[in-house]
Amino acid sequence: MPASYHQFEAVIVGAGGAGLMAALNLQGRDVAVLSKLHPVRSHTGAAQGGIGAALGNMEEDHWEWHMFDTVKGSDYLADQDAVEILAREAIETVLELEHRGLPFSRTPDGKIAQRPFGGHTREYGKAAVRRACYAADRTGHMILQTLYQQCIRNQVKFFNEYLVLELLVEGGRVAGVVALSVADGSLHVFHAKAVLFATGGCGRIYQITSNAHALTGDGMAVAWRAGVPLEDMEFFQFHPTGIYKMGILITEGARGEGGKLFNGRGERFMEKYAPTLLDLAPRDIISRAIYRELRQGHGIEGKWYVHLDLRHLGRAVIETKLPDITDFVRTYLGIDPVEAPIPVQPTAHYAMGGIPTDVWGRVVFDEKNKVLPGFYAAGECACVSVHGANRLGTNSLVDILVFGRRAGRDMARFVAENDFPPLPRQPEESALRWLSRLREGGNGGAARRVSVGELRDTLQGEMMDKASVFRDGKLLTEVGEKLQELKERYQEATIQDRGRVFNTDLVEAIELGFLLDVAHTVAVGALTRQESRGAHSREDFPQRDDKNWLKHSLAYRTPSGGIELKYKPVTITRFQPQERKY
Ligand code: FUM
Repeated sequence: MPASYHQFEAVIVGAGGAGLMAALNLQGRDVAVLSKLHPVRSHTGAAQGGIGAALGNMEEDHWEWHMFDTVKGSDYLADQDAVEILAREAIETVLELEHRGLPFSRTPDGKIAQRPFGGHTREYGKAAVRRACYAADRTGHMILQTLYQQCIRNQVKFFNEYLVLELLVEGGRVAGVVALSVADGSLHVFHAKAVLFATGGCGRIYQITSNAHALTGDGMAVAWRAGVPLEDMEFFQFHPTGIYKMGILITEGARGEGGKLFNGRGERFMEKYAPTLLDLAPRDIISRAIYRELRQGHGIEGKWYVHLDLRHLGRAVIETKLPDITDFVRTYLGIDPVEAPIPVQPTAHYAMGGIPTDVWGRVVFDEKNKVLPGFYAAGECACVSVHGANRLGTNSLVDILVFGRRAGRDMARFVAENDFPPLPRQPEESALRWLSRLREGGNGGAARRVSVGELRDTLQGEMMDKASVFRDGKLLTEVGEKLQELKERYQEATIQDRGRVFNTDLVEAIELGFLLDVAHTVAVGALTRQESRGAHSREDFPQRDDKNWLKHSLAYRTPSGGIELKYKPVTITRFQPQERKY
């Protein structure tokens, strides 16, 4: 089947908060949004507890405190010029959402309600502050619904269930993308002046994750294959409270409302690890604390989980402020959190790294931040970098909205000032070759054919066991070697469904290729970084080492498909690195 050709001034890949916010800020231009899922199924909808903004509705708060908390939370790896923008613009962004119709939870006098979240403090670390604006525990869901409705109102053109395969680059400019329509298996070339990747994260590189099945690092891998490096991929966040064995998120908002963690000995173990903020310390610290307790045999009945106890909050608070997680726990565990504590374990949640950008969402590709014209990225697939080595809860929603909006605005400027670049010759050719190899089952004949599911299980198990909360050189070397082997075996991967209509077998095979590439950058970055910082905790290098490692990594693809690392400096403006205590 020949490819279909389309031309739009701007193409946005991904219809979560970042993509939709960008689309709304491109009003008046010719824009297409491609989404692997129906837009309201995007993973923004899974963000539960809140969006951080120093509105000061409940008590005194300032964007400078938000900035400080974010920089300290990042273990001083975040770029402070970008963090300043995040903290300042969070305020107007939340008000914009309110005006666009988002049904926030309210205080009795009608203001947007705010709750505490991990690592958010007043007066530069003195005590917890209520900064997270929320809509019960459905904040991301409400953001998605609100922005999607606004896009429909503004007649944004959507291509739903289109999976991006390749980025087109010609003459040093981005010229569009190639995508697969999952509904009918047809191939599409989108010719564009500017392309934004807002494709979300890659949590599916791990076995236990809060991320939906669709979070397979698509945009990251496609950009990397096109020669763009991935920044700071070694930093992967584990959220402390995923449902035991399933990884489904139990919002930090539950602890914001007063929920407490207990080990198998009935101890509030966070007293040992973060005496000031306790259960509201940043996620890297709590996840490590839980792992330490579990390793010492202090899990509940010696098993690999601790308890999150909400019972003292009472039925009314639990059911009105935390209705979704109450439902999840009742449905998936058969437990009522009003009456029993919830079994939780850390769950792979968020990639701090991604496609490097400047503060306008423009993709930069070298150590001097040179821009690749016409290419933009925002949200979890991007690294601007506001989260550094560890993201604070609520800042992912701030990130997608603030930098999605900025990217949309700069794209509007760019497409007004520039003509269409030429397309490469036969732009769909390599995607066609790739798809037919997957459909026909590798190069090695039937005897060597390999199952996609088996490779994915091995990948996820290896990453979970050897490259998660705690790491060391030996295990990371092993996982790196295993990934190399899996990448070779992937060349022989085969699928069973040879049809065209909703071929999810084919989609999963494509996604596995993305997962393998992205996981490899995580493992190699983690092995090379010989220090502990934020979510990257090396047991063989337990100290943070600012002298040698206060720098961002850039993982490039070598011509043979391997990884070459380079580094660039961190931007420090207001806050010099300090010891990180909570
Ligand atoms: O815990 C949560 O509600 C997650 C929020 C976040 O990742 O920012």
